[in-house]
Amino acid sequence: MIQLDRVTKQFPDGTVAVDELSLELPTGEVLALLGTSGSGKTTTLRMINRLIEPTRGTISIDGRDVRSLDVHELRRGIGYVIQQAGLFPHRTVIDNVTTVPRLLGWDRRRSRSRAMELLELFGLDDSMSDRYPAQLSGGQQQRVGVARALAADPPVLLMDEPFGAVDPIVRAQLQVEFARLQRELGKTVVFVTHDVDEAITVGTQIAVLRTGGVLAQIGTPKDVLAHPTDLFVADFMGADRQVKLLGLLPASAVNQRRLADLPSDWEVVLDGAGRPTGWCRRGAPVTTEVITPVRPGATARAVLEAALASESGAAIHVDDHGVATGVSTLDDLSLASIEAAA
Ligand SMILES: Nc1ncnc2c1ncn2[C@@H]1O[C@H](COP(=O)(O)OP(=O)(O)OP(=O)(O)O)[C@@H](O)[C@H]1O
Ligand SMILES: [Mg+2]
Repeated sequence: MIQLDRVTKQFPDGTVAVDELSLELPTGEVLALLGTSGSGKTTTLRMINRLIEPTRGTISIDGRDVRSLDVHELRRGIGYVIQQAGLFPHRTVIDNVTTVPRLLGWDRRRSRSRAMELLELFGLDDSMSDRYPAQLSGGQQQRVGVARALAADPPVLLMDEPFGAVDPIVRAQLQVEFARLQRELGKTVVFVTHDVDEAITVGTQIAVLRTGGVLAQIGTPKDVLAHPTDLFVADFMGADRQVKLLGLLPASAVNQRRLADLPSDWEVVLDGAGRPTGWCRRGAPVTTEVITPVRPGATARAVLEAALASESGAAIHVDDHGVATGVSTLDDLSLASIEAAA
């Protein structure tokens, strides 16, 4: 568990970068630290590994005040990924990744085999291990940066916009890979980003900082999207925050009506096995609309997309065999009705 208790950092020139920040991050969780530029995110990370000392307040890891620990011992337990990957340019990929294990006195063989294991985990094949950072793409460099931070298997990981320098597609890939990996590794992670979608993908908790380093809100991604404490948080999460929220909820949370209970004159056309094949208006010829049904395991967002894509304004839910089980309209997607059902 990482705890910050009323932590303040005022730089000598008077700038208050972090102001009375208190938060608790349980072991194994990922805190996505969101905030505008200059809101104290990097300063907060650097106070946790004591690259910066707080002016006031206490930071503890597993109940131990970080000031009571030897700074080298503290940092051995913390992997740190900085923006732009920050690789050593004159060391090969493998030597970058083995840096910390070697400093910790691991022998060469053990360090190398650990590094190769991590590189493989991040989808970097053997041929890359002897290249220099400049011979890798931006996304590959960032993977190496994360592998390097994980090399000595530290329980805590601090990541400062680790995927900031790559294009949106590679970035989305890295986020999903990281979230999957984290489910296996169970590290305690503070992940700085100013990208809301990234925060939602990787974070089990989200903290939103406002300028001046004041905590605006902390909570689960669902909490913060559904119930922002004020306009600042609501704006920061985006005008489409309801749609983002639907992406985190299961389709099963959306009210389903019986096929016969659509509040319009549209009807679902079924084949002999009960699978939907189209829509028609009562009494009119069958249309040939392409149907994208909502399958088991889909998100509530898939219900929204199916309803918007259909002329009928409704989505059809199907079971594992493709048999229609019910319909949902846009009304069924309102937050109030989803929360009432949940
Ligand atoms: N050494 C320093 N001396 C004075 N002010 C500083 C120092 N380092 C940072 N600051 C100021 O503290 C504030 C917080 O900086 P910080 O780097 O923590 O922001 P950030 O949230 O990480 O921003 P970004 O998203 O741009 O990386 C900023 O106003 C910055 O100018
Ligand atoms: Mg920063």
